[in-house]
Amino acid sequence: MTTRKFQAIASVLRSEIPQSDIQKSSHWQHYTNERTLNRDGTVSGISGFGGRARRTWLHQKVHDHLQRRVLGKNHPVFEGPAYREASNYTKTQGRALDMDCLRHACTLDLLRAHHQKMSSPRNVTVIGDGQTNFVAAALASGLYQKIVSINLADVLLSDLELLEALPGLDKNSVQISNSAENLRSALKQPDTKVVLVPAQHAIELGACDIDLVVNIASFQEMNHDIVQSYFRFIRANFAWHYNCNRLRKVLPAGEVLDFMTWDWQGAEFLLDEICQWHQLWYTYRPPFLRPYDGPVQHRLAKFG
Ligand SMILES: C[S@@+](CC[C@H](N)C(=O)[O-])C[C@H]1O[C@@H](n2cnc3c(N)ncnc32)[C@H](O)[C@@H]1O
Repeated sequence: MTTRKFQAIASVLRSEIPQSDIQKSSHWQHYTNERTLNRDGTVSGISGFGGRARRTWLHQKVHDHLQRRVLGKNHPVFEGPAYREASNYTKTQGRALDMDCLRHACTLDLLRAHHQKMSSPRNVTVIGDGQTNFVAAALASGLYQKIVSINLADVLLSDLELLEALPGLDKNSVQISNSAENLRSALKQPDTKVVLVPAQHAIELGACDIDLVVNIASFQEMNHDIVQSYFRFIRANFAWHYNCNRLRKVLPAGEVLDFMTWDWQGAEFLLDEICQWHQLWYTYRPPFLRPYDGPVQHRLAKFG
């Protein structure tokens, strides 16, 4: 698919790729080492940031069945608003509502339940989204005025195709930003709904009017100093932070990521427990349901 509507953004993202590559942990070097920049402006050959399988009636039935085995058929998410919204936007994007989308529906229901306690955050930033799972869910929820997505430039380029498929996003509603000043001004524009920030610029962002920062299953795959710089960003914004990651993970080059050692000092927790929807996943082969490689914790914290 070409990114006609967002062609200007696609060409900036392509130019950002070499610098963005420097941000990659050994894990991400591995998952992007077969990357191809196609003539039509798109990117292929990168993986590890979720699936986007084409939606067919039969495949969706299989997903629906296995998801009810993972969470239990009476799990409240299946009757909640975020699941209905996910059914709609995945259809528009032509993709299956897979386990990643379902995890994000659970997350959005959780954030909605705590919305008022967090003084109704207006601007949300997601660090390390995949396949627009958070951005699409947050847009559909109507909870936030602006959504900022910080990610590797090649992954943002891939996400652009999925953003193109969402309703209500025109040329002016998606922006790309490469500095704090630029981000602050994009967030002030009434038309802006989504701002994409290539990861190498995140370090310089500082305070830029962000109320909530979300990280799901991706700090666990970054180098420790990069995670530290993201915690500085959260602190600079006195933001709420939803974090859902493996308690411990070792990357291919031996980097050890340890949830409890991140810079939580002084934060107040509204939620701090094992994430119940992030313990099992499914495959199409027996035994179908499998545990993740280790427990996943989630925290909703206020900094500052
Ligand atoms: C396993 S995927 C998680 C995707 C999604 N959050 C989910 O829960 O399904 C990890 C994500 O982190 C992103 N990532 C890796 N290094 C990053 C960095 N330095 N800054 C921001 N995002 C990064 C990857 O591109 C990818 O989108």
